[in-house]
Amino acid sequence: MSDGLELDRITKRFGTREAVSGVSLAAKDGEFIVLLGPSGCGKSTLLRTIAGLEAPDEGVIRLAGRDITHREARDRDIAMVFQSYALYPHMSIAENIGYPLKVRKRGQPEIAREVEHVAARLGLTSLLKNLPRQLSGGERQRVALARAIIRRPKAFLMDEPLSNLDARLRVEMRAELKHLQHELRIVTLYVTHDQAEAMTLAHRIAVMRDGRVQQYDTPSNVYHRPANTFVAGFVGSPSMNLIEDPGSNVTLGIRPEDVELSRTEQSGWTQARVYVTEEMGNETLVVLNAGAMRVTARAGAGSLFDFDAPVWFRFRPDKIHRFDRGSSLRLPD
Ligand SMILES: Nc1ncnc2c1ncn2[C@@H]1O[C@H](COP(=O)(O)OP(=O)(O)O)[C@@H](O)[C@H]1O
Ligand SMILES: [Mg+2]
Repeated sequence: MSDGLELDRITKRFGTREAVSGVSLAAKDGEFIVLLGPSGCGKSTLLRTIAGLEAPDEGVIRLAGRDITHREARDRDIAMVFQSYALYPHMSIAENIGYPLKVRKRGQPEIAREVEHVAARLGLTSLLKNLPRQLSGGERQRVALARAIIRRPKAFLMDEPLSNLDARLRVEMRAELKHLQHELRIVTLYVTHDQAEAMTLAHRIAVMRDGRVQQYDTPSNVYHRPANTFVAGFVGSPSMNLIEDPGSNVTLGIRPEDVELSRTEQSGWTQARVYVTEEMGNETLVVLNAGAMRVTARAGAGSLFDFDAPVWFRFRPDKIHRFDRGSSLRLPD
C-alpha cells in the first residue's frame, strides 16, 4: 500500500445533485497537489469529504495506506485551512497556535516549545502576545497555517486560503507557502479557482469541471498538453485561442505567445485588423479580427498598433494544439 493520499472513485451527492463524480487521485507523500476549477465544480465538497466533514456516497479514501473513509474527522490526522481563518478572538496568537496541542492534552512546556518553533518558522515570533484583531490579514493567515502545522498532520487540506488577501500579499504568501510545504514535506491538497496559483504551487494539478477531474498532470503538461478544450481554455492568461477549423471536425488551439505578428504582408500569413491593443508594461496583448475569427496575440513590450490597423499573423506551426470538436479531447500530435 502506498504512502500519501489516495482517492478511489469518490462520489458525493446532495439530493439528486452530484457534486463530485467518481474522482480518483493519488498524491505521493510530500506532494503538493492543487485542485483547480471554476466555482461550483466540487472542489470544496471533495476537500470536505477527505477531511471527514462530509461522507462520500461511494468510494474509498486512503491516507498513508490506511482506509480512513469512515473515520471521524478528528481521528484522520489531517489539518485543514480555510479561506476564513477563524482565529479565537480572545486568545493570544500564542494560545491560538498552541490550541490543537492543548486539546490533545500535551504538557504546557512542550506546547510553549512547539509554539515558539512554529512561530519562528512563519515569522510570527514578535506577535505571539498580540490578539488576532491587532494583526493584518496576511499575519492572521500565517497564524492559521501555524495552527495547522503544529500538529504535524499526515496531510494538509487548504481551501482557497489566500483568496481573502489583496493581490500583492497573495503572491507573497504563495511563495512562503510553497517554500514551507517543501520544508515540511507533508502531502497537501490545495483548492483554488486561480490558475496562476495552481501553476506556481503545484507539483501536480487536478483540473476539475462539474465534479469530474479533466486532467491530472504536472503544471507544464497541463499548460503545454491540455487534455481537452476546457483545460486549454481554463489554464493560461490570456486564454488559449480556440478556433473551429471550418474544413474539418477539428478545433485548433494556439496560445497568444505562439501567434506571430507582422506589420507588413508575409506570404502565407493571414491578414487581420487590430481590434484593440492592451499595453501591459512587460508585453503587449493585441486582439485581432480576421473575418469572423478573433485572435489574441502576445507581442513585445511597446509594440503599439492603431485601432483597425492592418496586420498579418500566423500560428507557429509546431505550437498548434488540435482537439476533436465532438468530444473536445486532444488529438494525437
Ligand atoms: N451542503 C450542500 N447542499 C447542497 N448542495 C451543495 C452543498 N454543498 C455544495 N453543494 C453543491 O455542490 C456543488 C459543488 O459545490 P462546491 O464543492 O462548493 O464547489 P467549489 O468549491 O468548486 O466552488 C455546487 O453545485 C453546490 O451548490
Ligand atoms: Mg469552494
